[in-house]
Amino acid sequence: MDEETLAKYRQAGKIAAQALAFGAARITPGARVVDVLDEVEEFIREQGADMAFPAQVSINAVAAHFCPKADDMTVFREGDVVKLDVGVHVDGFVGDNAVTIYLGDDAEIDRLVEASRAARDAAIALVRAGVTPHELGAAIEQEITKRGFKPIRNLSGHGVAQYIVHTAPSIPNYPNGDKTPLVAGQTIAIEPFASTGAGRVEQRGENTLYSVPKLRPIRTAAQDVIKRIKSYRGLPFTTRWLTREFGEGKVRLALFSLKHARLLNEYPPLPDAQGGLVSQSEHTLLVTADGCEILTLANTTHST
Ligand code: CO
Repeated sequence: MDEETLAKYRQAGKIAAQALAFGAARITPGARVVDVLDEVEEFIREQGADMAFPAQVSINAVAAHFCPKADDMTVFREGDVVKLDVGVHVDGFVGDNAVTIYLGDDAEIDRLVEASRAARDAAIALVRAGVTPHELGAAIEQEITKRGFKPIRNLSGHGVAQYIVHTAPSIPNYPNGDKTPLVAGQTIAIEPFASTGAGRVEQRGENTLYSVPKLRPIRTAAQDVIKRIKSYRGLPFTTRWLTREFGEGKVRLALFSLKHARLLNEYPPLPDAQGGLVSQSEHTLLVTADGCEILTLANTTHST
């Protein structure tokens, strides 16, 4: 990786970490979810960066992909297990990180939160050129199961690239048999999920999260919405961003037209299949010959 690209990954990672801390501090009982996410996204833009995907908050059984609509009245409540997932890009280079905030005082749920964080850190301690996704998955699974919880098997960490949030390699939450060695220069996000339920998520609930990876001209009366979607350059977006600018009806039309043209990817909320509580912890890092550099740290300085 050249120095300029590395500098952009470092900048994206640092702003992602700062935005995560900024958002986490605002997750308190009574705060409105949409307000916190709007503030996080404003913070990211104020740093001169942009979102790699919509900031999202997933509560209790929902593991990922909850992005409220503009008029959503959901508030955080006492006892909630809240996952905040924030992605930032600088010139397309992605920093992706997540944290779980528990708004209660049950020691068992504290252990659930600790399980995904310890799993992430155990995997990071193993990362170096030559380690395999299978080995990382084994370390993640062990940290989670020894605390009495289940890793979520159908969610995984992932490579990141320019204007791509999810690419190879997949970093599993269990030893999945993938013995392809990681190589120096890869940028990967490690994000274990621990569950008190099935250890498997399903797609359920109203979808508000989309991407259009390969836009081409289409027939629709909502060309201004299409133009805005084009500006996301294939990265995920949420309906709230669009409805505030263009109104509900026009956005619905644009999404319908994109879906009809088979250009639209949809990412509905992902709850645990048995309604168990879910925790998540995530860093993005650069694989090096003898270890890794964690990119999503809020307080880093680099001499070069
Ligand atoms: Co991720």
